[in-house]
Amino acid sequence: MLLSLYNVMSSSPSYHTTILCKYRVIIGVAVIFFLLVFFNQTYINSQSFDSNIFTIKNQDPKEAATNLSHLMFVLVGGSRTWKDRSIYVESWWRPNVTRGNIFFDVEPSEEFQPWSRNFPPLKVNEDLKKLKIYPKLVNRVHTRIYRSILENYRLKQDENVRWYVTGDDDSVFFVDNMVNVLSKYDHTEKHYIGMFSETVKSNFYFSFDMAFGGGGYALSYPLVKALVEVLDECIERYHYIWGVDHLQSLCLADLGVDLILDKGFHQLDLRGDLSGFLSSHPTAPLLSFHHFGSLEPIFPGMDRPSSVRHIMKAANVDQSRMVQQSICHLRTTNWTFSVSWGYSVHVYETIFPRSHLKCPIETFHPWLGGRPPLYMFNTRRVSRNPCEAPHWFFFDSIEQENGGVVTSYTRKFPRNMTSCSFSGNFSADPLASIRVFSPKTPKQGRKVECCDVEYEGANVANVRLRDCRRNEIIA
Ligand SMILES: *[C@@H]1O[C@H](CO)[C@@H](O)[C@H](O)[C@H]1NC(C)=O
Ligand SMILES: *[C@@H]1O[C@H](CO)[C@@H](O)[C@H](O)[C@H]1NC(C)=O
Ligand SMILES: *[C@@H]1O[C@H](CO)[C@@H](O)[C@H](O)[C@H]1NC(C)=O
Ligand SMILES: *[C@@H]1O[C@H](CO)[C@@H](O)[C@H](O)[C@H]1NC(C)=O
Ligand SMILES: *[C@@H]1O[C@H](CO)[C@@H](O)[C@H](O)[C@H]1NC(C)=O
Repeated sequence: MLLSLYNVMSSSPSYHTTILCKYRVIIGVAVIFFLLVFFNQTYINSQSFDSNIFTIKNQDPKEAATNLSHLMFVLVGGSRTWKDRSIYVESWWRPNVTRGNIFFDVEPSEEFQPWSRNFPPLKVNEDLKKLKIYPKLVNRVHTRIYRSILENYRLKQDENVRWYVTGDDDSVFFVDNMVNVLSKYDHTEKHYIGMFSETVKSNFYFSFDMAFGGGGYALSYPLVKALVEVLDECIERYHYIWGVDHLQSLCLADLGVDLILDKGFHQLDLRGDLSGFLSSHPTAPLLSFHHFGSLEPIFPGMDRPSSVRHIMKAANVDQSRMVQQSICHLRTTNWTFSVSWGYSVHVYETIFPRSHLKCPIETFHPWLGGRPPLYMFNTRRVSRNPCEAPHWFFFDSIEQENGGVVTSYTRKFPRNMTSCSFSGNFSADPLASIRVFSPKTPKQGRKVECCDVEYEGANVANVRLRDCRRNEIIA
């Protein structure tokens, strides 16, 4: 920020130097002040990942805090894909608790009749052919999907609804976190909250200013009401737009509402092994996953349905810590422990600072190939250097003890490397499992947790999560 300001100031032309010299200082100071105030505001507004001071709500003491009953999930699926994807919806849907509907193209086949009570109620989309614009639509499937918001609204099931949350039949939501994140925003204002894609190309080809729908996004209810009045009109205006999420962002932009980014939503336009990504998640409550059906299973040796059920075992106990990264060091052996709660633990035979370990290891590929830059975040390359490559441990089990929670992580494959000699040559090969002790109380939103390690030389190490001390350096 300051660097670019400096360039603006120093690149002023030199031809009026002599006369304006004195005034330039005064004008310069005024301009710097103005730019600082103005740019900081637009910067914060457009990059509102963390604490958006302009939208975060002043809690009205009389009004009840937002809870799960205030969320309306509008999901879209298809009869053809349901057989493989119902597991994803079933993994997070809470029958009779979560509110919402899933919209299909046609009635599901007989094998799903009668419709299970463990699924969201089923609705079939209206026939698009009644729309005047129908022959000109470039993507009829997406237009059908888009109208689910309008059709859901017309069901008149929205008593006390504060937010619409949209998603696909292969989206997995972490609904307790969703409630906590959305409760920070004023639901009586018009808000559009989601996240762009992880890959530069997806954002470039669609838009940097749209929420990718598979990762899900949230619309405050006043925005839903404004949108449904003009939704069909908007479809006509943008009938040539291919992507439904793109269309949505254009319609909302014309209503004067721009996307607020939140790093907890995951479109996952990635392929292959996601483990590196999930082991260095941003410090933001995990809100969603998408594309689990096309990525490799997230746990070694498990298929996709078992992987999703497995990660939900941890999520059902503590969503606030799900895949949140904590880093601590064992000075006696020069080892670093990086915990991604509920998913993995990495043990490095070197001391690494947090600044390094928060970059994901690039175990995955982008959805679309090509040359870098590929991702919207920095990565570390997979390394065969014993001083850089971690020992991998994956989530195995969870137990609740009096006052706390214990998650265990076990080694699923050997590292197959010599030990890192420059930092003392202490091999972590004998370590078979890591136990992580965490408090019962939820972690506060975007706060980083610190930890301590105990290791007696046996095949188990114990890691205890705790609040970071004031000004604690994690390095
Ligand atoms: C959610 O808030 C509503 C008030 O809008 C309240 O009536 C309801 O009991 C709350 N539900 C839960 C599960 O806390
Ligand atoms: C949901 O509620 C209905 C009646 O309100 C009940 O018959 C049904 O068993 C409930 N389903 C679950 C999964 O609790
Ligand atoms: C480690 O070595 C064993 C035996 O040589 C081999 O089967 C295994 O695939 C290797 N694992 C990795 C992660 O390289
Ligand atoms: C840890 O590594 C440093 C070099 O990075 C080394 O000087 C130190 O002796 C090592 N500590 C132990 C306990 O081996
Ligand atoms: C590191 O330790 C292994 C045995 O644990 C030993 O074979 C090797 O020579 C040591 N390397 C160095 C550089 O000390």
